[in-house]
Amino acid sequence: MEKKWIDLTGRIVIVTGGSMGIGEAIVEDLKNCGAKTAIFDMAEPKPEALDDNTMFIKLDIRNKSEVEAAVAQVVERFGTVDALVNNAGVTRPRILVDYYKERPEYELSEEDFDFLVSINEKGTFLVSQAVTRVMLEKGKGVIVNMSSEAGLRGSVGHSCYAATKAAVHSFTQSWGKELGKFGIRVLGIAPGILDRTPANNDEKYRAQAYGRGMGTDVKPEQFFKNYKTSIPLGRPGHLSEVADVICYLISDHASYLTGITIPVGGGKD
Ligand SMILES: NC(=O)c1ccc[n+]([C@@H]2O[C@H](COP(=O)([O-])OP(=O)(O)OC[C@H]3O[C@@H](n4cnc5c(N)ncnc54)[C@H](O)[C@@H]3O)[C@@H](O)[C@H]2O)c1
Repeated sequence: MEKKWIDLTGRIVIVTGGSMGIGEAIVEDLKNCGAKTAIFDMAEPKPEALDDNTMFIKLDIRNKSEVEAAVAQVVERFGTVDALVNNAGVTRPRILVDYYKERPEYELSEEDFDFLVSINEKGTFLVSQAVTRVMLEKGKGVIVNMSSEAGLRGSVGHSCYAATKAAVHSFTQSWGKELGKFGIRVLGIAPGILDRTPANNDEKYRAQAYGRGMGTDVKPEQFFKNYKTSIPLGRPGHLSEVADVICYLISDHASYLTGITIPVGGGKD
């Protein structure tokens, strides 16, 4: 029988935002490593993603009572929670002021600010709090927070998103320090430019291009035509390459790591 290097057989892992994009790839990879998964998402996963070892709970991670009820449901069905991947997150490229005076809708509004902060920061906090209560009881667990290269370095036209992802990185550092003595490791991951996900749609590229002074007619291919020079490895990352690092971080191979965020950006600054 093939022996997996990353063996998560029997581990129970909650993945927020696991219905599509990076989260879908994370769920698939975790399953391939033997884990049982619970997808927490507002959107339905593909029907083929669900089986005896994969459950789905529809919720909004901004809603504390929905989150607490969902964690209780996972414990009821699978018995415990061994790991949490705080992957659900949203992005809206916005500039601080509409410098070019053509697209006021791309100026950061109060509503944009509240939307980004409530999902990326508050949602991450609420799910982590509910899951940590379960992990504390058994004195073991791993939380992986999805930050972003933007959160570690800033990003033109993405200041609010970047700030929320910096906050997520900061949660990782503080919770890593806070929870270590209870046997809970907390880690972060900061992807750079990746293969396209539903979040990276044409509207996002338009807003991002406008914010960078490139107008609004730029095609995604043109926008990223400098891949080869801006990314040392010369290409965007594959979703599976992010998922692989997460499986490693959850596994016991990473047993002495906590409180840090790992950039997965092909060497891009
Ligand atoms: N795609 C990238 O290039 C990239 C790069 C760096 C970091 N990230 C981060 O990775 C994560 C996933 O990104 P993605 O590109 O796969 O996004 P995506 O939009 O493709 O998927 C996000 C998932 O989260 C769910 N979700 C959003 N808000 C929710 C809420 N309030 N409650 C429950 N579920 C909610 C969505 O329904 C969706 O299934 C995000 O945190 C994002 O910031 C993405």
